[in-house]
Amino acid sequence: MSSHRSTTPLRAAVVGTGGIARSSHLPALRTFADAGEAEIVAAVDVDMDPVRAFAAGAGIPHASTDLDATPVELRSDCVVLCTPPVVHRDQTVTALTAGAWGWCEKPPCPSLADFDAIETAEKPGDAGPYASIVFQHRFGAGATARRPPRRRPRPTSPPCATRTSDT
Ligand SMILES: NC(=O)c1ccc[n+]([C@@H]2O[C@H](COP(=O)([O-])OP(=O)(O)OC[C@H]3O[C@@H](n4cnc5c(N)ncnc54)[C@H](O)[C@@H]3O)[C@@H](O)[C@H]2O)c1
Repeated sequence: MSSHRSTTPLRAAVVGTGGIARSSHLPALRTFADAGEAEIVAAVDVDMDPVRAFAAGAGIPHASTDLDATPVELRSDCVVLCTPPVVHRDQTVTALTAGAWGWCEKPPCPSLADFDAIETAEKPGDAGPYASIVFQHRFGAGATARRPPRRRPRPTSPPCATRTSDT
């Protein structure tokens, strides 16, 4: 995979601080941060109050509404895109062009032409940076193996009509 597997923590910027950023990406990034593998350096969104609250709650040093900020300006080497799909193409291309990795929520972008643009912005070869798209398969064998066994519901009497005598 990437040559980034090093002792240096990956500096991640979270762009889009709504539902999926809060529920999934932030906890995941924190896990990596706790392991010394990542550092969350910036959060970006359209409104200052929510992005400030997101950053403050997560101890992220930089909150911004500058949607044109490049990864260089954000001092990040990975951009975690939790934004609506219509902006994924431009944001991913911006990240890649600046030499940063893209970790983009699904769906990647509205059209194949957009996807071509993302691929074109990737550097050739395996070293990266390149863009990865979130794709989870909740019902695959891997997820099943990781999931704790489901508690079986207690057997109960099946709901059914009771015949009563009218004599
Ligand atoms: N993997 C999954 O299971 C899963 C689940 C939910 C959502 N998603 C995907 O995650 C993405 C975000 O969904 P969500 O549910 O978090 O939406 P959301 O509306 O809760 O959050 C999106 C955030 O992006 C911000 N935003 C909008 N345009 C922006 C821009 N140009 N730059 C920066 N921030 C911008 C919004 O203000 C908002 O805070 C979508 O692509 C969605 O399909 C994936």
